[in-house]
Amino acid sequence: MYFESLLKEFSADRFPYAGESFHPEKTAVISAREMVAVAIKNDDFICDCISLEIDRLSLNKFSSGLIPFYTIPDLGISFALGYWSPGGAVGPHEHTAWTITAVCSNKLEVIIYDRDESYRTNSLVPKRRFEGLSGMTGSIYEPCIHDPRNTTNDWSLTFHATSPLDGLRPADRPEPLNCLTSEYTISPELAVHPYLKVIAARQKIQFVNQLVKKLLTINTPKARSVLIKCLDVCSISTRNELKAYLGKSIIENISPKLLLQVTDPKLELQCHCENNMVTLSVMTPKSLLQVLALNTIAKEAMIYAVHERAFDPEQLPGDLTKQERYALAEALEETGLFKRINN
Ligand SMILES: [Fe+2]
Repeated sequence: MYFESLLKEFSADRFPYAGESFHPEKTAVISAREMVAVAIKNDDFICDCISLEIDRLSLNKFSSGLIPFYTIPDLGISFALGYWSPGGAVGPHEHTAWTITAVCSNKLEVIIYDRDESYRTNSLVPKRRFEGLSGMTGSIYEPCIHDPRNTTNDWSLTFHATSPLDGLRPADRPEPLNCLTSEYTISPELAVHPYLKVIAARQKIQFVNQLVKKLLTINTPKARSVLIKCLDVCSISTRNELKAYLGKSIIENISPKLLLQVTDPKLELQCHCENNMVTLSVMTPKSLLQVLALNTIAKEAMIYAVHERAFDPEQLPGDLTKQERYALAEALEETGLFKRINN
């Protein structure tokens, strides 16, 4: 694995052990950044990272921020992929230890703030702006405030290697600036609510789509084997795209039957019919939320899906063609209320 060869660059003789409170020498971070800069242009490395990320996404956990797909046990250094939706941003934030970032797809615009001036004036003071283009790698060593954002209409994908000390308050600034984005946390109500699984399911569909899109740009046997791995976690619509690429027989041998079931058995779902429309709503921690509205031609099938809570798309009742049944199954899966189960 190419990824394993990169790990050798993060050795204990150059980086502190996890739990230690000092930082590595700057030369160690620069040397690791140079290795990442080479790796990010290597198709095998990208495939290795995506393969590990698919394992992480298979756990179906909601993620906010960068969730590592791998952490070096002794050193606590973590590796993650970042997904940036069109126009997406996390807001200005501070890194308090070294981090290495590379752009795998598309680009990001990054605004760097003058940290000393920002703390002195208790406001964000911009210093410079740059574009991180696909294939570019950068690093932070000294504490830094920045605001990366995707200003394009397409998704961007990034790779991150991060110190275990990042996020801990440095001695020079024990309190963060008020105007910085603090770590996103979900409300205690949502944390224990079945609707969280719906958000996680939608997120997984979007993230796997981006990984598949990246893999489809790589024409190697390794990329093909990782794409086959994606079949277990991707959405019905992505699966259909892969059918054309991998061949129908491969897909049908691996996952012959499509079945959908409600994402969490405790979800409260409701169907309503009015004005020639059938709507599907779900109870969230705050209120009833409408997530889908279709022509009443889908009424019988939608009521069946909500009532049965697990179904074979071909068994959906009503005056629908086979394509329409699958289109409805696809729409239900994209709401996050239903998930594909492997049969
Ligand atoms: Fe950052």
